[in-house]
Amino acid sequence: MDHLHKDWLTEALLAEHCRGAQTLAHALRRWIAAGRLPSGARLPSSRALAAELGIARGSVSAAYEQLVAEGYLAARHGSGTYVSAPVRPATPDAPPAAHPRGLSARGHALVQASRLPAGLTGAFAPGMPEIARFPHATWQRLLGQAQRQASLELFGYRQGGGHPLLCEALADYLTLSRGVRCDAAQILIVPGAQAALELTARLLAEPGDTAWVEEPGYGGAHAAFDAAALSMHPMPVDEHGLAPKGAAAAPAPRLIYLTPSHQYPGGMVMPVTRRLELLETAARHDAWLVEDDYDSEFRYSSAPIPALQGLDRQGRVIYVGTFSKVLYPALRLGYLVLPDALVDPFRRAAARLYREGHYPAQAALAHFIADGHFARHIRAMRELYRQRQALLRAVLARELGDALPLSAGEAGLHLIARLPDAFDEDALSRRAADEGLWLRTWQRHCLAPTDTRALVLGYAGVEEQALAHAATHLARLLQASDGFAGRR
Ligand SMILES: Cc1ncc(COP(=O)(O)O)c(C=O)c1O
Repeated sequence: MDHLHKDWLTEALLAEHCRGAQTLAHALRRWIAAGRLPSGARLPSSRALAAELGIARGSVSAAYEQLVAEGYLAARHGSGTYVSAPVRPATPDAPPAAHPRGLSARGHALVQASRLPAGLTGAFAPGMPEIARFPHATWQRLLGQAQRQASLELFGYRQGGGHPLLCEALADYLTLSRGVRCDAAQILIVPGAQAALELTARLLAEPGDTAWVEEPGYGGAHAAFDAAALSMHPMPVDEHGLAPKGAAAAPAPRLIYLTPSHQYPGGMVMPVTRRLELLETAARHDAWLVEDDYDSEFRYSSAPIPALQGLDRQGRVIYVGTFSKVLYPALRLGYLVLPDALVDPFRRAAARLYREGHYPAQAALAHFIADGHFARHIRAMRELYRQRQALLRAVLARELGDALPLSAGEAGLHLIARLPDAFDEDALSRRAADEGLWLRTWQRHCLAPTDTRALVLGYAGVEEQALAHAATHLARLLQASDGFAGRR
């Protein structure tokens, strides 16, 4: 059994101001659910931890007891307290574990299954754009202008589905650059892709309906579908993205969620034949296709692939887009492109559930697009990310030769680094985390157990020196790992 790195744990608990049983239990529960405290890890004794934290031993014992009762920890007589087997169900059908008092079963499933990644920042955080190079001064100016010029009604309760200027600008952009067939009236502005997915799941599926999801896939989609009490069926991906192989044996879907422009996290691009096949599959099941087009602006080898939505002649595709990658995540602006018949119900539901807001920011964004800043920023970031990807490849190749095969990286903000079969990724992640390097494993994107061993390495949001440093660090950790082909 692994011992946790005691200093790390103490520092993290001190940073969270854990002074009592409740705050301590809360922090530990969160880290276990997030995979940050791996299964099998041994916790310090209550006496030792209490001394490190400068709190009463009884508080630590109470927190441990609470988490044992909840199934997060296991106490072995005479040998200590350990993190239990993974709290995330091994398969979507596994019975739910005991859940904390007060949380509904659905809430508990949501919290467990949609583990918030521990390393949301750091050198390899996937999906993080470069925020430092965002044209902040221009954005401030446009925001200020929009705020000054906004009529008073833009500050009240709204239910228009978004600022008309932004919907117009987006319709033009999506038609020209993404091959989406739409007009402004089909666009609904929402607080990010996450809200778009949640709304889609709630409005188009009944609790218990099946959603096919890519395996491996996007945790945010899993969370949205969990929140809507859908049953997720993991569909394998191959070199062309979601593969409807074995579909005959799969439960009939109500929703099919996919990232055809750049499979997340696998990175494959879905060719047109597969897109057409999936449109047919959806038609056969009378299901909706939810196309999450989250980062396809960043394509390095050829022009972006036109959206699946543009091929749809039956109004089956719900197209989801976001400004989180092209601008910055905390902007919380995303959008849906909806078939005509769904526009009004989605607009009403969004206005009820989330309320509409940030109209001046939406107006500023419309000007940001119309004045050419948006296209310029995408071009600049595409070049920057291309260079960063090349740097990451070069450092890993220099350190490891061809012992760590990397994905083609034709698009997006991350690469996949393939590890040998049966490699202990968790041990590597733990060692890396102990040294302050956060790694995202392939496994954590899977609903079912997998034999594939790989890392998801973001490279876009970190400056060059730190990226090179992290790559060297990773290489060193790999070289010291059992079962790694390039071991020194
Ligand atoms: C597959 C996928 N979809 C969507 C998003 C963005 O979601 P949001 O707009 O909620 O920030 C991400 C971000 O990581 C993602 O990886």
